[in-house]
Amino acid sequence: MVIASDVQAIISHTNKVVYLEDFEIVFVKGNDVKFFSAAGAPIKKEVVTITWTADQVEKAGYKHFMLKEIHEQPRAVAAACAPHVDLEAKRVKLSDVGLSDEQLRGIERVFIIACGTSYYAGLAGKYLIEQLAKIPVECDIASEFRYRDPVIPPRSLILTISQSGETADTLAALRLAKQAGALTLSICNVRASSIDREAHGHLYMNSGPEIGVASTKAFVSTLALLNLLSLYLGQVRGALSVKDEQHALEQLLAAPSQMEAVLAYDKFFAEAAQKLKAYKGILFMGRGINYPIALEGALKLKELAYMHAEGYAAGEMKHGPLALIDERMLIVMVCPSDRNYEKTLSNLEEARARGGRIISIGTGDNHALKAVSDHYLSLPKAEWNVNPILESIPVQLLAYHVANAMGHDVDQPRNLAKSVTVE
Ligand code: G6P
Repeated sequence: MVIASDVQAIISHTNKVVYLEDFEIVFVKGNDVKFFSAAGAPIKKEVVTITWTADQVEKAGYKHFMLKEIHEQPRAVAAACAPHVDLEAKRVKLSDVGLSDEQLRGIERVFIIACGTSYYAGLAGKYLIEQLAKIPVECDIASEFRYRDPVIPPRSLILTISQSGETADTLAALRLAKQAGALTLSICNVRASSIDREAHGHLYMNSGPEIGVASTKAFVSTLALLNLLSLYLGQVRGALSVKDEQHALEQLLAAPSQMEAVLAYDKFFAEAAQKLKAYKGILFMGRGINYPIALEGALKLKELAYMHAEGYAAGEMKHGPLALIDERMLIVMVCPSDRNYEKTLSNLEEARARGGRIISIGTGDNHALKAVSDHYLSLPKAEWNVNPILESIPVQLLAYHVANAMGHDVDQPRNLAKSVTVE
């Protein structure tokens, strides 16, 4: 018998787990185990078999779990998508989500609630749901949402995102929303975690165990699920033509193989890291759905390299961050060929004119970006809904290699925890 707060800790011993609910009591003696309610009455508990295996929590030759998890991302995205795609019809079909089409059709507003990296995935979800399903979306940090007396109108869907499913603020926000009578849906990686158990509906990242404290593969899996959810909402509500749905889905299904190509930037960042770590700070910028990736890039750098970084909407640069720019400031501009491309390019030119050093991330062989950048990183051609999945890889690799070059413990950054189960 092993008692733990997280299944990852015990997979090497067993795949049979019993989850304790709040206030339940367990009595363990040798191989004997008994469960009781808070009032002391004996209760029967279900033994759950988990599908994660011990070799998934090995480094498999990688120096760190984080690097392994970055490289696992193509598989993670494919695994997140697999259950929800009708390959014959080339349509999205959410399976086992636990919410009826009728319920999904009735939604008039979506609130996305999460913390940390999951929150940034949620921000990208706002762009996806609004554009593909035409439902207004608010995205909030769980610790803000739960204490601001949020107004939750009838017919709202509360979408909580949490890799661990145990983040205290996100769980509390979910409970608050349920008390207010809202429909809830969770996106979790850990099945049968508290948030997964308590939400009405469920989507699973299927990323496999994520060990590195800084989340990577769970982030891209979530981006994939948010794509599928948005497409399905668009479908059931009639907000999206079949042709548009099929095109967006086709693009999403191409992402894993495109991601493999982007992973080749591992070598570039391993070599560049010594120089990159010397900058006084890094400013990550992007517009539209790429803005959350800028925020995530900055968060990764702070978490791992303990370097000052900011994520900014590129259009806001002239309202402050321009003043930060000189030749000791590195700018990472996420600038794919989408509807915001021209505007982002002109923001990049402004940054360049102030002496900033520039890494730009764009689509294909882009001469205009090359001309204004110190380094240009080319991504495979994809639609706007898929670009963030591809862009995540270079910003993760940047943070990983800079932190590694600084000699930091990448998998366990100082002062941080993987699951934040207390306020
Ligand atoms: C911690 C982790 C982050 C994670 C955040 C939210 O801060 O270090 O990597 O994004 O919690 O975790 P969750 O499990 O709710 O996604």
